[in-house]
Amino acid sequence: MEQTFAIIKPDAFSAGHTGKIIDRLIQEGFRIVGMKKLWMSPDEAGGFYYVHKERPFFGDLCEFMSSGPCIAMVLERENAILGWRELMGATNPADAAEGTLRKEFGTELSRNATHGSDAPETAAFEIGYFFSGLELRS
Ligand code: RTP
Ligand code: MG
Repeated sequence: MEQTFAIIKPDAFSAGHTGKIIDRLIQEGFRIVGMKKLWMSPDEAGGFYYVHKERPFFGDLCEFMSSGPCIAMVLERENAILGWRELMGATNPADAAEGTLRKEFGTELSRNATHGSDAPETAAFEIGYFFSGLELRS
């Protein structure tokens, strides 16, 4: 079993897609180990996406991620990291395959509905950024 970290981003949360996304991930065999609604400050979003701090889109990304509430989750499944990224689809919803979350719920590159960790080290950092051990007891 592997764990990954996922976010239902502010665009999808405010559009009312949370329930549909959660239904979908349960159908795909993910178990929700941790889940909370929160509203990040720009600095908290910047700490989360610190790997992108030198990128030209960093400011817009932090502004968007702190523009409203989101849902943070720890998901568990076999091959969870890759499996969740496959379910999300390509970063740009315009390139995302039919049946993926970003195809269905994303609207543009910078408003792409969901986040997923891209490697075991990133998943470990991101889970620890948002959740304490007590919140993940299961
Ligand atoms: P995420 O971290 O949110 O799951 O997305 P990702 O791995 O598919 O893509 P990543 O390269 O980590 O980029 C993080 C977010 O930044 C926005 N982005 N904008 N303007 C641009 O060229 C650009 N490139 C990336 C996207 O919203 C992406 O989700
Ligand atoms: Mg990423």
